[in-house]
Amino acid sequence: MTAAAGKGLEGVVASRTSLSFIDGLEGVLVYRGYNIHELAPNASFPEGVFLLWTGRLPTRSELDAFEAKLAARRGLDPRTLEALMSLPRDTVPMAALRTGISIEGLYDPDAEDNSAEANERKAVRLVARTPTLIAAIHRIRQGLEPLSPDPSLSLSADFVRMANGEPGTSEAVDALDRTLLLYLDHGFNASTFACRVIAATLGDMHSAVTGGVGALKGSLHGGANAKAMHTLLEIGELENVGPWLERAFAEKRKIMGFGHRVYKTEDPRATHLREMSRVLTQQAGLAKFYEMSRELEDQMISQKGINPNVDFYCATVYYALGIPIDLYTPLFAMGRMGGWTAHVMEQHADNRLIRPRAEYVGEVDLRWVAIGDR
Ligand code: ACO
Repeated sequence: MTAAAGKGLEGVVASRTSLSFIDGLEGVLVYRGYNIHELAPNASFPEGVFLLWTGRLPTRSELDAFEAKLAARRGLDPRTLEALMSLPRDTVPMAALRTGISIEGLYDPDAEDNSAEANERKAVRLVARTPTLIAAIHRIRQGLEPLSPDPSLSLSADFVRMANGEPGTSEAVDALDRTLLLYLDHGFNASTFACRVIAATLGDMHSAVTGGVGALKGSLHGGANAKAMHTLLEIGELENVGPWLERAFAEKRKIMGFGHRVYKTEDPRATHLREMSRVLTQQAGLAKFYEMSRELEDQMISQKGINPNVDFYCATVYYALGIPIDLYTPLFAMGRMGGWTAHVMEQHADNRLIRPRAEYVGEVDLRWVAIGDR
């Protein structure tokens, strides 16, 4: 038998995709041919989703129609809301989101249909409803009534309104929307790969993306944006960065928001989030967290040669926007839902079961011992 791939499948090219491309040595990320540096300052999140799903940028009227379609499908099934209300009050938002998406799958009219047309309809509902789900989860845990969507608002603006009970400023909504675009897709990352494995069994789209939420929840993946903020709060002050890091290294702790399996240089998403963090923390009177982040970044690079990833500066962007820390990873899921659904559609369009082998390292010739003789 051939030797196993490297631990964690490092460097393995598992399949083909035309959705996004990463050059980890050069720090390049491309969605459907467009470099992220072209898209980040220009595209809205729905525009990025349209691009990912169709392979081209929408015209004005196509984008308007696409946004209207998303807006019209934002409302949750009332039975999903009922189920969310019955969850224990201390359910962590990512677990509630995983459950909520799974429940939406129970009532989806296309639940068991994997045709391209049904997948497209489900993808629209999933991208449209994830913000509504997250906002409802946030309201319910505070003992508040979930708010109904307002289709006259953009997806990001309506999320802010449904979560907070009042509209956000246009700057805050734009910043949130840009983070969603930056989180949209990223090759065969762990959660997307999980989605594709499920889709490749001919599992349905809700099953696949429920698995994706589960994979994203972990702190080595999407959970890192919340952990990064907790790190900064634990450090507390700029002058504590050095001693804190020294202790963390001595304890062999992983510094959350740093390092990446594919990027060996600057994560191009971090380039945008760093600048957003600088501006937004200053506006919010929280510049010290940006300064601490810069110091931590400088020390991580000079001492370990490890760069920040997408999650590091996103943490202070969300902090400056006043978003509760345990909603950071659900927001990552809100953006990545566009990518997960695109990958399920791509997988179903040209499917083969994903079923690797394992290199067995156990014994093979043991003899049976009767239970009384063990
Ligand atoms: N802090 C400290 N040391 C690190 C870090 C880090 N964040 N990341 C990597 N290293 C070190 C490791 O200790 C290891 O050192 P060693 O060779 O001396 O043992 C070396 O760099 C290689 O690290 P691995 O963990 O083997 O790298 P891997 O590719 O398996 O892991 C990962 C990548 C999981 C992202 C890792 O860098 C990590 O744990 N980072 C922190 C969590 C995080 O930010 N995750 C979000 C990633 S981006 C995303 O998913 C959206």
